Amino acid sequence: MRTWTTEERYRVLHSADEIIGLHEKIVSSEYRQKFHVQPITGLSSDPNGFVYHKGTWHLYYQYCPWGAVHGLKFWYHVTSTDLVHWTNAGIGMWPDTFFDNKGCHSGSAFSAGDDLYLFYTGNHRDENWVRTPYTCAAKLGPDGKPVKLPEPLFGPRPDYSEHQRDPKIVYVPEQKKYFIFIGAQSMDKKGRALIYTSESLLEGWKFAGELKVPGFEDFGGMWECPCIVRISGKDILIFSPQYTKLPGRAESTNHNIYMIGSMDYETLTFTPDDTYHYLDFGFDFYAAQFAANVNDPEMAVLIGWIGLPDNHYPTEEEDWEGSMSVPRELRLVNGRLVQSPPAAFGRILKDAVPGDGKLLKTCQVEIRLPEGENPSEDFTLKLFTKADGSGGMSFAYDAASKIITADKTGMDLRYNQQVGEVLPVPLDDALKKIRILIDSCSAELFLNDGAATFTTHVYPTAGEHFYTLTGPGAAGAIVTVREILPSVKDDFVV
Ligand code: FRU
Repeated sequence: MRTWTTEERYRVLHSADEIIGLHEKIVSSEYRQKFHVQPITGLSSDPNGFVYHKGTWHLYYQYCPWGAVHGLKFWYHVTSTDLVHWTNAGIGMWPDTFFDNKGCHSGSAFSAGDDLYLFYTGNHRDENWVRTPYTCAAKLGPDGKPVKLPEPLFGPRPDYSEHQRDPKIVYVPEQKKYFIFIGAQSMDKKGRALIYTSESLLEGWKFAGELKVPGFEDFGGMWECPCIVRISGKDILIFSPQYTKLPGRAESTNHNIYMIGSMDYETLTFTPDDTYHYLDFGFDFYAAQFAANVNDPEMAVLIGWIGLPDNHYPTEEEDWEGSMSVPRELRLVNGRLVQSPPAAFGRILKDAVPGDGKLLKTCQVEIRLPEGENPSEDFTLKLFTKADGSGGMSFAYDAASKIITADKTGMDLRYNQQVGEVLPVPLDDALKKIRILIDSCSAELFLNDGAATFTTHVYPTAGEHFYTLTGPGAAGAIVTVREILPSVKDDFVV
């Protein structure tokens, strides 16, 4: 693994010429994604500024151009009209002011009439490397480039640590006010979210108080990327608690969770209906964000980063890493959250063929387990095995407990071993359906129509393109495979 000096990580990018060579080098990598948004060079991490604005979906992501390393962050911009086909639009925000001199960190967007606004964290560091996070805003100009406000909306509070960032803006019609949620950490290193409010998008912001989540006063060491949305009369709060281990997540200290409940903007209290849930049970899913301005009372749209902070992946050797997940539609069904690929996903699916034990490089695999009481017995699905069925990533379903055990120790390329290569995926109901979306270096599993999801990076080597389905519970299962057509152009646009 390459080591980077601070100077190298925070090198300022001046022109496209400086990275075209890097793009040309990586573009032929066998692991470049075909239907996922990925960095043109270097690193992509958190999704940012996800919004539906005048018929177009805008998405930005945290982008570090120089390599697969966390350094000077830009926002890279992509657009789509259907959440499936994405076009690179170039760097959408440059760290070029005093307030964001060491990076434009994560944030959100908001569409108001003809105007699109971006809210982000200006990561300022002084000559002694002391950090001051500012909450900054910009408005998109007619050329689609952001025009930054000359001053931040507000600076950090002195009674919290330097970790105050990731503004998520929401409008609350009952109060005719905007609210910004900020991920934060208390002085004694506990996860918090702070709330600011204003009647106007770009001025008058005041600190309203700390978000109260009864029962979760001391949960995790920092709440990154808090985000909230209202669907079917409920509020869904998500955030990425960090610096803590959680049950069933092996040695990982980075998680992405959700709670269903109700948000009272008068008392700044989010009351969860029950406990927290994992947004995704896979090895690599983080910093998810809801799209703003979806305006569907029954559905939210979410996207996450396939990757985790402090983890390392094989394509780092090629100077790039990370990708966005497939966007997901979220609904509440019988009080439970279900997630599914976007409605238009079918546009890139070729005709179904019966599964013959082979995976295509990009494909959807659908497995229907027998109807009735079954599967009352166990079975094991192995993806990315060798031709003889050995190796691969296995998903062993235990019918009695309704727990799948995901195990990636059989893959040729192993990495992040210290974080854990085996994870449980507990289900509420017996496993009936599995839908898997496989791209060049990722797999996303939607279990029981998205009642649970599992997202992972995976880097199959040349021979690892087969699957097996074995065990008594799999008798009579129907497997269909559909090739997935490319939907994201790997264009070099800066
Ligand atoms: C989450 C995060 C955010 C921050 C950004 C910096 O992965 O740490 O809290 O704004 O990444 O890239």
